[in-house]
Amino acid sequence: MSTLELSLPFLLLLLGLPGHCGAERRREGADEAGSAWGWPGLQRLRERLSTAGAHSWRYWALLSCQMWPDDCEEDGQAAASRLGQTLTQWGQRSLDILTTWYCSFQDCCNGGDCRISNNFSALESDLSVRLHGQHLARELVFRAVKGYLEMPQPHKALALSFHGWSGTGKNFVARMVAENLYRDGLKSDCVKMFIAVFHFPHPKYVDLYKEQLVDQIQGMQQHCSQSLLIFDEAEKLHPELLELLGQHLERQATEDHRTKFARSIFLFLSLLSFSNLGGSVINEAVLKLLQAGWAREDITVEHLEPHLQAGIMESTESGLGHSRLVKENLIDFFVPFLPLEYRHVRLCVRDAFLGQELPYSEEVLDEVAKMMTYVPKEEQLFSSQGCKSISQRINYFLP
Ligand SMILES: *[C@@H]1O[C@H](CO)[C@@H](O)[C@H](O)[C@H]1NC(C)=O
Repeated sequence: MSTLELSLPFLLLLLGLPGHCGAERRREGADEAGSAWGWPGLQRLRERLSTAGAHSWRYWALLSCQMWPDDCEEDGQAAASRLGQTLTQWGQRSLDILTTWYCSFQDCCNGGDCRISNNFSALESDLSVRLHGQHLARELVFRAVKGYLEMPQPHKALALSFHGWSGTGKNFVARMVAENLYRDGLKSDCVKMFIAVFHFPHPKYVDLYKEQLVDQIQGMQQHCSQSLLIFDEAEKLHPELLELLGQHLERQATEDHRTKFARSIFLFLSLLSFSNLGGSVINEAVLKLLQAGWAREDITVEHLEPHLQAGIMESTESGLGHSRLVKENLIDFFVPFLPLEYRHVRLCVRDAFLGQELPYSEEVLDEVAKMMTYVPKEEQLFSSQGCKSISQRINYFLP
């Protein structure tokens, strides 16, 4: 029907599309950094379209009667009413089409921003099923992340500092957080992982790195209502970068009453295990507790935190302890990752076989787990590489 074909340009004219949409979005991005980019604009557009559909059909009917008198032979009122119904139906359908089309390249869906999934049950399940031997990290990370994201109006970013030996699961947990909070995980626009020696390798370029880092953080916070920043090898970050991050975490805490606040989670991953004195503070503390007869699962954060803080402050290899991040309590939680024992490594081996859908036997699990080096020399209690490179190691045992 020709009237319907003509109604699209008519409605678009009425609403001033598409310039209206673009202008709206730019304003949105500028002063409402916290909102899902573009979504409120679309909501308003939808409302206006609905209003237009409901109120303008009479004028539309008159107009069409003038243009196509043949359609207007019968009672004008009935025709207008029928046309009104059609137009309203058409309006509804076209709204849905428009929404789908708009969302195919914007990042919204019915719940808001599609890029953000915040699936807490999946995060909880991943942390308890896929992560082995880390009862403290499991609890702390889940509670901190969920608590922060469910807070109605957080006043600062959430900053967590992960500490532990290599292969104990710091990266693994950071990835789990990314995957369960964001549709595209680490690839999301709202997630960025920095690896100190890779992204900021040369001290002489630190000014450039600072500029880039500020741009990246601000860009993300403008376009994402919730961003996740992961700093791997945080113990190797240049002191000036740490200072900058400190300023950033601090500034958000004080400026939040003026600008709409975008949630951000900062994860700092540090090895901090081989201090100049040798050995890891966490490992030493855990070893002492185990030797004193404690069950691993009964070890609490309170047991480890003083050792951990002291270790971080005293470490001469890293600027972390002397940065304002630590000194001014900008880190919300220090998360200890415990050294892994033989039974945990065995579970990682099993997961590696399951993950590649390969058959395995109990003997093979033992064989692979035995390939790791266990320390200290006498007790042979902790795997020195944690669960690192297990998936490569199982290749030796494939049929
Ligand atoms: C959360 O993740 C689980 C497991 O991946 C999935 O089955 C469930 O549908 C997800 N829930 C939501 C609300 O997306």
